[in-house]
Amino acid sequence: MRSKIVREGAGELRYVIREIVEHANRIQSLGVDMAWENIGDPVHKGEQLPDWIKDIVAELAHDNSSYAYSATKGILKTREFLAQRTNSRGGVQINAEDIIFYNGLGDAVAKVYGQLAPTARVIVPTPVYTTHSSGEGGHAGTKTLTYELDPARGWEPDLDALRKSVADNPAIAGILVINPGNPTGTVHSKETLEGIVAIAREFDLFLIFDEIYINLVYGGAPSVRLGDIIGDVCGISMQGISKEVPWPGSRCGWLEIYNQKKDPAFVRYATSLFEAKMLEVCSTTLPQKAIPLIMSDPRYKEHVQRRCAIFASRAKEIASKLSSITGVTVNEPRGAFYLTGVFDPGLLDNTMTLPLPSKEVRQVIEDLVKPNPPADHRFIYYLLGSTGIVAVPLTSFDCKRQGFRVTLLEGDDIRRQNTFDRLANAIPQYIASSTLKH
Ligand SMILES: Cc1ncc(COP(=O)(O)O)c(C=O)c1O
Repeated sequence: MRSKIVREGAGELRYVIREIVEHANRIQSLGVDMAWENIGDPVHKGEQLPDWIKDIVAELAHDNSSYAYSATKGILKTREFLAQRTNSRGGVQINAEDIIFYNGLGDAVAKVYGQLAPTARVIVPTPVYTTHSSGEGGHAGTKTLTYELDPARGWEPDLDALRKSVADNPAIAGILVINPGNPTGTVHSKETLEGIVAIAREFDLFLIFDEIYINLVYGGAPSVRLGDIIGDVCGISMQGISKEVPWPGSRCGWLEIYNQKKDPAFVRYATSLFEAKMLEVCSTTLPQKAIPLIMSDPRYKEHVQRRCAIFASRAKEIASKLSSITGVTVNEPRGAFYLTGVFDPGLLDNTMTLPLPSKEVRQVIEDLVKPNPPADHRFIYYLLGSTGIVAVPLTSFDCKRQGFRVTLLEGDDIRRQNTFDRLANAIPQYIASSTLKH
């Protein structure tokens, strides 16, 4: 090329969760039965939506206006419905103009970072859902700035360390919180969230709370939203229907922008998000029409509660299978539908292996580990070849700790229990296979 066409930070834009699928497809074609624990799509994993939700969508499919463009920010009635829902909690007050729809929350995440000045940084948690770290690192053209979630403290961050990072780096303009967390399945305490709001207030930052899982909270965890505690700080709540309805194929998510008028720079930023949206015309129309119909139906609350009860019981079941393994820290999830296991620092080494079922599978796995990937990638590849369990390495969530993420989504009880029994057996076997002395 005559001039440089690849931007700095482009290397940040890998999506390891999807890459694992390519490897798994190869292993599957060699006859290994797969347990797809890699991706957070409940429908793909076999969850059936209730008929009453399908009936609402079917009826909308007969309405001609469902095929039209919608307003740039989204359908007014739907935005009014969502604003009213937030206002009724008694915290931050918004109106329909504070809400913008996107083609999935992933799209919104990209736009939120994309519209920031490249010099304005958002400090993100580690581990973090990769779309955020890729988006933030991509916009700044450099590595992400992170604050640690500590598995030894139930994945709560050290607020003093976060405050120090913010104080030491004047480029930090915002703090990202993912609550409940992906990949951790953690639900932050009210004290933690209020502490983060206090840091934002002290240093004149804005907040981004990814709340796509906010109604999937269980096990007695608090369900505190940004809008409940934000006070007069500027912030954005990111929400969507992919996980909650669940309807990931709708490609429908939205931003609720809080206290935009409190700061002239924040109004300009919010306006730039709206102007960028204008260039795209609008987001998916039909799901937006469905939102008030589904969410105001008396059966919806019960539907979401039922799902939470299911995840609560699977979280207990899976955590109990994994938490007694020496060398691995597991926190029982209390939100979303992921569980992350963390290996003790320095535990894994590159002599560890698991038995593989055939010469062909061995060839694939040995090719994958030849470039000496991070130690938890090596574990994930051997786990894949040996058991067919498709998990995601923790280091791929912009994290220095070694570990793995699995989901609570397998609906077939026997299959799920079998998968996690095999995982629980494979971990000590893998660790014991080391030919180095520990
Ligand atoms: C924390 C988080 N935010 C955003 C998204 C993107 O969701 P959507 O399907 O609306 O693009 C996901 C999807 O897994 C997620 O886990």
